[in-house]
Amino acid sequence: MTKETQRILITGAAGQIGSELARALRARCGGANVVVSDIFRPKGELAEAGPFEILDVTDAKALADILHKHRIDTVYHLAALLSATGEKNPQKAWHINMSGLYNVLEAGRTLGLARIYSPSSIAAFGPATPRTGTPQETILSPTTMYGVTKVAGEHLCDYYVQKYGLDVRGCRYPGIISHLTLPGGGTTDYAVAIFYDAVRTGRYTCFLREDTRLPMMYMPDCLKCTLDLMDADFARLKHHSNFNVTAMSFTAGELAAEIRKHIPSFEVRYEPDFRQAIADSWPESIDDSAARAEWGWRPGYDLAAMTADMLTALRARQAAGRLGV
Ligand code: SER
Repeated sequence: MTKETQRILITGAAGQIGSELARALRARCGGANVVVSDIFRPKGELAEAGPFEILDVTDAKALADILHKHRIDTVYHLAALLSATGEKNPQKAWHINMSGLYNVLEAGRTLGLARIYSPSSIAAFGPATPRTGTPQETILSPTTMYGVTKVAGEHLCDYYVQKYGLDVRGCRYPGIISHLTLPGGGTTDYAVAIFYDAVRTGRYTCFLREDTRLPMMYMPDCLKCTLDLMDADFARLKHHSNFNVTAMSFTAGELAAEIRKHIPSFEVRYEPDFRQAIADSWPESIDDSAARAEWGWRPGYDLAAMTADMLTALRARQAAGRLGV
């Protein structure tokens, strides 16, 4: 299978990561070869620059029909409820995250898909996990339903690898920062919202404490780690669906201070809500040496480079009247 002949389906493609992964894959493989799907039809380029399908991933038949119709061989399965939304409706989070993944893996097994990408998250860790330099192999005892589905999902993916020889891969994403599509329902979302408010109003009220340190990554690195892992030689991988990856770690206060280097009058207030307990259960920093050793992972952006790029992009959008609400 070459990159040119891949026929790709992205689930949850209207989300923060999917919308940018769709662009990257369409640029790489040709627009017609990348089928974008989500439970609703997004406005604009995403649904118009190539094939688009409405897809509820909990509907196994609908999924199989789309895979057949478009002769798909590779699936990037991104449809999921995130940590904060998941705590508001744990039953729905279990249903969407687990049924969706099970349906994708079963379709992979029965239809003979060549490769599946299924992301995990720092949410797979919990309060008993070492918080700094969190190792690849460690305690996975999450306290959120999202985390429970990520741990179960990692195990389910690895089961399909060892039992059926299915090629399934995934990274444990840290918080992802980006400026094309807003994240929805995560605990790390503050690290995106803070930039929008800094540019729009010069003020931000943060739902985490100032000293909350979490691992993070800028979107170009998120796309890079996803595509690099998918390009890696399967025979060289010792892990499959649970690679630790990280690019930087900072506290909310450190991020505010970095933004203040560009916007000196920027003010932040801290009013922690229920998401503080979620953040407190996650690592502060991650050891991603397995990803570095097995497929050459190297991040490109640190806090200073990411902050400068985010502000440049958002200011350009503001100048064009396209910063949104
Ligand atoms: N960004 C996610 C969340 O906060 C973590 O995977 O839920």
